[in-house]
Amino acid sequence: MRSVRSFRPDPVPNEILTEILEVARWTGRGSNRQPWTFVVVRDPATLGAIAAASPNVGHVAGAAAAIVIVMDGGLPQIETFDEGRVAKRILIAATALGLASAIGWVVPAGAPAVAELLGVPEGRRVRTLVSLGYPTEEGARPKSAPGTARRPLADMVRFERFG
Ligand SMILES: Cc1cc2nc3c(=O)[nH]c(=O)nc-3n(C[C@H](O)[C@H](O)[C@H](O)COP(=O)(O)O)c2cc1C
Repeated sequence: MRSVRSFRPDPVPNEILTEILEVARWTGRGSNRQPWTFVVVRDPATLGAIAAASPNVGHVAGAAAAIVIVMDGGLPQIETFDEGRVAKRILIAATALGLASAIGWVVPAGAPAVAELLGVPEGRRVRTLVSLGYPTEEGARPKSAPGTARRPLADMVRFERFG
């Protein structure tokens, strides 16, 4: 799977969103703490306002829906790992269900505005979101030749010792 940042306006059926959220719900976490709340946003005005607060997540403005992963706000190191894990499961579930998706990190300067928009209480962490939708033709087109968008394995794997 790869990031797709250009979506058709077609809505994502509620059953598909629920399936994705079920996959997110089952994400494993040390001690089975489940330090997240998923805010599903479908209102184009809210999606646009999120993008305005953090232009690096501009793809959310054109998404059919976004899942904003609100973390409880505990130990940042551990919760950052959890946040990444649950985000990746959302991305993979979306792909498996035939959707295009793109992850985004709301910049710290934009986070208070996004928290306000979504009514997130003080102390929670608003950072990761996933834009979802059906891809436009342009969005569906590969940006690089298959197999070339990552460093080769030989460059990043060592056996037995690093050096
Ligand atoms: C923690 C994290 C934050 C990211 N933040 C953004 C973002 O704010 N905006 C965006 O367009 N892409 C964002 N990305 C997507 C990456 O740019 C993208 O995954 C990477 O370029 C590889 O491309 P691919 O997913 O198409 O293979 C983020 C990815 C990660 C893992």
